[in-house]
Amino acid sequence: MKVFVTGGAGFIGSNLLQLLVPRYPDHHFVNVDKLTYAANPASLSNLEALGNYALEVVDIADREAVEALYAKHEPTLVIHLAAESHVDKSILGPEVFIQTNVLGTFNLLEGFKKHSMAKDGALFHHVSTDEVYGSLGDTGLFTEQTRYDPSSPYSASKASSDHLVRAYGRTYDLPFKLTNCSNNYGPRQFPEKLIPLMILNAVERKPLPIYGEGLNVRDWLYVTDHCEAIWAVIERGTLGETYNIGGNSEKRNVDVVHALIDIVADETGAPLDELKGLITYVQDRPGHDHRYAIDATRIAEECDWRASETFESGMRKTVKWYLDNTQWVEQVRSGEYLKWIEDNYGDRLAAR
Ligand code: NAD
Ligand code: DAU
Repeated sequence: MKVFVTGGAGFIGSNLLQLLVPRYPDHHFVNVDKLTYAANPASLSNLEALGNYALEVVDIADREAVEALYAKHEPTLVIHLAAESHVDKSILGPEVFIQTNVLGTFNLLEGFKKHSMAKDGALFHHVSTDEVYGSLGDTGLFTEQTRYDPSSPYSASKASSDHLVRAYGRTYDLPFKLTNCSNNYGPRQFPEKLIPLMILNAVERKPLPIYGEGLNVRDWLYVTDHCEAIWAVIERGTLGETYNIGGNSEKRNVDVVHALIDIVADETGAPLDELKGLITYVQDRPGHDHRYAIDATRIAEECDWRASETFESGMRKTVKWYLDNTQWVEQVRSGEYLKWIEDNYGDRLAAR
């Protein structure tokens, strides 16, 4: 079977390919990726020696290029992860989020409708986020029935893409499944996101910028648990249905940062008090969602999936990975990354 994994050079996509390519030698995996700043093809260099993996450098917002790609490969399964994924970036520059997340998803659906959906076992699996549901108060959980209420340009663009996928299902009978997942962490995450940013800044004794008072809550899930969940839904989920994925691991941001610096201190021998002194409360994110938490009952019962890493075991693995993979880190921290740090944190740090 031919499988497209879009966004396969990014954080979740590369971890997914690392699991699936060796496990399924009879499937041929095509990584469809534009290789934006968030991608690192080095995350996949070990797969190139295997006969069932190939990279196609394509912008999913380019309708003709997507059409040509479908005509060339005619995939049976599309696992769609490619996206602009960072909330703060969507606040400072939303346009590319509409191009990639909305138009790009539309192009992939059109290609799938024309070249793939008539095949036996055809499936478009759309990977989405719990941020489409907006913010919870101090209690309650997101279920598959929670109404959409996105807060940021990023989450609004992902909500639009979810609606497009479901609309193609209803209107054209396009076979799809959809998953909405909570916050991931783990190896190969671009260091704009909270966890890798804090690990690397702690190691380098740079400020640890916590937005607002650090009381926002996220439900953390180790990335390979998310990847296994996606595959469990592809194998055992029902066509046309949605599954929420979460780690049952709610933490306030301030507690996440303290947990991380404890592990960094333990692994590197850095003095804990010095690391604690790096914590810097900065200007909040506009429209900052207070709390995300997932009810993952449906995927557990229908697809027999449960997270296997705890927050503690996953965080330690993650810290060790960043300490052991300094070359990977240097490859992604380009001039563009340094500019981002200045754009996003310059005023925040100055105004503290
Ligand atoms: P990422 O930013 O690390 O990777 C995104 C990948 O998409 C990169 O390889 C990038 O080059 C590629 N890409 C971006 N624009 C493209 C375009 N126009 N054409 C082709 N490729 C393009 O993102 P991630 O964290 O791995 O997230 C992957 C998916 O999972 C996204 O759809 C995201 O919304 C969703 N998701 C992420 C999380 C999380 O916590 N990271 C949680 C739930 C859902
Ligand atoms: O919930 C799933 C979503 O999780 C995914 O859809 C997104 O692609 C992914 O980026 C993530 O979104 P968040 O905005 O929750 O993740 P981020 O790592 O950017 O921030 C996590 C929390 O930490 C959030 O409350 C904001 C806060 N934060 C973040 C950064 C980068 C800080 O306090 N300081 C920071 O420097």
